[in-house]
Amino acid sequence: MAGFSPGALDALRTERLTLARPREADRADLLVMHQDPGVMATLGGVRTPVESSAAFDRQCAHWDAHAFGYWIVRDPEGERFAGRAGLSLMVVDGEPEVEVGYGLMSDYWDRGLATELATASVRAAFEVLGVRSLVCFTMTSNRKSQRVMEKVGFRYEQDFVHADLAHRLCRLDASSWGGAG
Ligand SMILES: CC(C)(COP(=O)(O)OP(=O)(O)OC[C@H]1O[C@@H](n2cnc3c(N)ncnc32)[C@H](O)[C@@H]1OP(=O)(O)O)[C@@H](O)C(=O)NCCC(=O)NCCS
Repeated sequence: MAGFSPGALDALRTERLTLARPREADRADLLVMHQDPGVMATLGGVRTPVESSAAFDRQCAHWDAHAFGYWIVRDPEGERFAGRAGLSLMVVDGEPEVEVGYGLMSDYWDRGLATELATASVRAAFEVLGVRSLVCFTMTSNRKSQRVMEKVGFRYEQDFVHADLAHRLCRLDASSWGGAG
């Protein structure tokens, strides 16, 4: 992942959303999302303020260490908080992987926006970071998220247990990505 300029991914714009590296002022918005039972039902359940704050700190530390991570997603109209999405390093079967993740506040569901976010994340990974392969995973019951993965080009790889819950892991290689979206 060498060779990209630090700061290159700090702020992006998709067709309908703005994506920005988290700043201290975003901590409260992430807490609202982490305490929303509807959003968190498929993300391991609501988090306490302490857990949410720790997750925010981890996301900031990931950016500090790697110059990419999860963006805070806003609706350009009024800068309203819409969710978070992006890329994070993780270990699967003992191997380092870059994961694509996305989650939106419910006002923003069912408009193709998760697909827009996942596509922007994939493009950043392949075209800016030079990553060769990406993973994406969701609960086996989360058919909607699996459909998002499928639309972006991810293919089923394996089921696995994450946070004590059954998850489906999918993969997309740069060589098979056609730049969709
Ligand atoms: C899952 C989530 C990201 C989807 O976001 P979204 O913006 O509504 O998704 P999109 O509109 O881009 O795409 C959803 C697709 O799933 C389809 N879909 C909706 N409900 C479905 C279901 N029950 N089964 C199968 N497909 C379904 C939609 O029709 C659409 O596909 P289409 O374009 O072919 O019609 C959003 O609901 C969310 O943030 N949920 C809470 C957090 C979460 O689950 N994050 C993902 C964890 S990995």
